[in-house]
Amino acid sequence: MKRGEAFYEGKAKILYTTDDPDLIIQYFKDDATAFNAQKRGTIREKGIFNNKISEVLFTLLEGKGVPTHFVRRLNDREMLVRRLEIIPVEVIVRNLVAGSLAKRLGLEEGTPLSRPVLEHCYKSDALGDPMVNESYILGLGWATEAELREIARLAFRVNELLKEFFDQRNLILVDFKLEFGRHHGKVYLGDEICPDTCRLWEKGTLEKLDKDRFRRDLGRVEDAYQEVCRRVCS
Ligand code: TMP
Ligand code: ASP
Repeated sequence: MKRGEAFYEGKAKILYTTDDPDLIIQYFKDDATAFNAQKRGTIREKGIFNNKISEVLFTLLEGKGVPTHFVRRLNDREMLVRRLEIIPVEVIVRNLVAGSLAKRLGLEEGTPLSRPVLEHCYKSDALGDPMVNESYILGLGWATEAELREIARLAFRVNELLKEFFDQRNLILVDFKLEFGRHHGKVYLGDEICPDTCRLWEKGTLEKLDKDRFRRDLGRVEDAYQEVCRRVCS
């Protein structure tokens, strides 16, 4: 598949056109940012790990009936995906209290939730991805009621499938972020699923094996990505 022009560059990925208007190439960079890009750095070979991890997870989900934008991995840093009209909402699913939820409600990290919690944020770097609710999303016309229902159903289904998958690899899926978009009128899961977008803790020790190692300067950042890749891809 021939790479055309770059039409979007985000904090961790670049998107290129192809000669098929329905397909684009998603290129994974090593750049890492946190706290709305106030903290910047590079995680060596992160792009290669995230490309491989996303390939495995999208393939798993697709096989279980979750429509994803993934078509195939092209090389170390590129995957071919369906071109989506992105719905400007970040969808977060939480199984344990961590990160911004711990901070906002003054709760201890690791506190269990009696059922998974679904959160929505408006995808806007300029505003720092503020939290919104379904009423905002409907009122602002970002998605229809049917699309929101489908997004919630898919997000909880993804949680069930990934929780089990990671559990079998001795990892606790604490929380994660998903993005969705439309393609020929249907809702698809887009973006990537990797240690940038998931919190993963080692069972037993609760050691963090995700981007929190970079956000919080915990050290051995590359090792964590490599270890998750090893467990996911083997
Ligand atoms: P949070 O606790 O900081 O709100 O993060 C919840 C989950 O969402 C966590 O797994 C990391 C992921 N996430 C992203 O993928 N992108 C982001 O910009 C943020 C803030 C979080
Ligand atoms: N990716 C987000 C940013 O730069 C935040 C994060 O993942 O913590 O700013």
